[in-house]
Amino acid sequence: MYNEPMLKDNALAGKTILVTGGGTGLGKSMSKYFLELGANVIIASRKLDVLQATADELAQATGGNILAVACDVRNYQEVENVIAQGVAKFGKIDVLLNNAAGNFISPTERLSHKAFDTVIGIVLQGTYNFTLALGKYWIDQKLKGNILSIVTTYAWTGSAYVVPSACAKAGVLAMTRSLAVEWAKYGIRSNAIAPGPFPTKGAWDRLFPEDLRGKLDPANKVPLKRVGEHQELANLAGYLVSDFSSYDRKIGEKCE
Ligand code: HXC
Ligand code: NAP
Repeated sequence: MYNEPMLKDNALAGKTILVTGGGTGLGKSMSKYFLELGANVIIASRKLDVLQATADELAQATGGNILAVACDVRNYQEVENVIAQGVAKFGKIDVLLNNAAGNFISPTERLSHKAFDTVIGIVLQGTYNFTLALGKYWIDQKLKGNILSIVTTYAWTGSAYVVPSACAKAGVLAMTRSLAVEWAKYGIRSNAIAPGPFPTKGAWDRLFPEDLRGKLDPANKVPLKRVGEHQELANLAGYLVSDFSSYDRKIGEKCE
């Protein structure tokens, strides 16, 4: 039950959703579900070949409309280009899913300052770049907007050996909560999901390398003693990007 698709058919029809890091892992799984529910999807990350292969696969599997645009989330001009291309193709963008990330396991004292910059750049700067650019667009165009960011459980607690990621995810969480208040008056929602461990190649290769997997079974840290399944996360993300979670105003009532 928990790993079956949850929302009803066409729950996202008419919406355009921009997913950073949508070519792989959890971003790909969430993008697939959004397409199945009738959304248009834009996926953006650095590797165009990976993005294009995912776009072709998901278009074929779901019959949905998907656009792949290469972008380094750290580069504001490239971020603006993704938004311009998305609006040119689909007419508007309704939802931002901040999902792109970089991470690795390392004793902090062994990191170079560039290693720290790299993870903070992808996770925190990348998230505020897309959030700022789309926020300006929504406010300027008087459109409602919806931001969903993927953080992680250690955004609250911190975590040893992934310190740049913990700092960056805590920053994303603070931005999420701040903008939920500040931009509510524009009809822009801001939420985050904090997953525990979900198997993906990106995370497993970097955080639970083969030689450590015997000692560091990620399921052991979860009270229910199992890792997550992608559809479980896609169900929650699908709900949060849909109008079922909109807490909308009454018909006829205007946003200031
Ligand atoms: C220490 C490292 C390192 C490592 C890279 N660096 N890997 N330092 N340990 N394992 C250092 C490099 O030496 C360099 O510093 C600097 O970081 C930048 O490295 P580049 O390889 O040039 O960076 P780049 O090509 O931009 O690649 C970014 C990356 C890479 C983060 C290093 O791993 C990547 O592309 N990751 C994207 C996908 C990803 O990480 N997915 C996992 C998300 S999992 P110097 O000083 O040498 O120049 C996740 C889960 C959270 O977030 C919760 C799980 C429960
Ligand atoms: P993943 O497959 O490695 O996804 C990361 C994505 O980020 C990749 O598609 C990558 O694409 C993109 N990316 C990295 N650097 C980028 C940059 N500079 N510009 C643009 N895109 C960039 O890992 P995942 O496990 O699915 O992670 C997805 C999200 O879930 C992340 O936010 C992660 O922190 C979060 N999360 C995962 C877990 C888990 O257990 N898997 C748990 C908690 C939270 P390119 O290489 O093409 O750029």
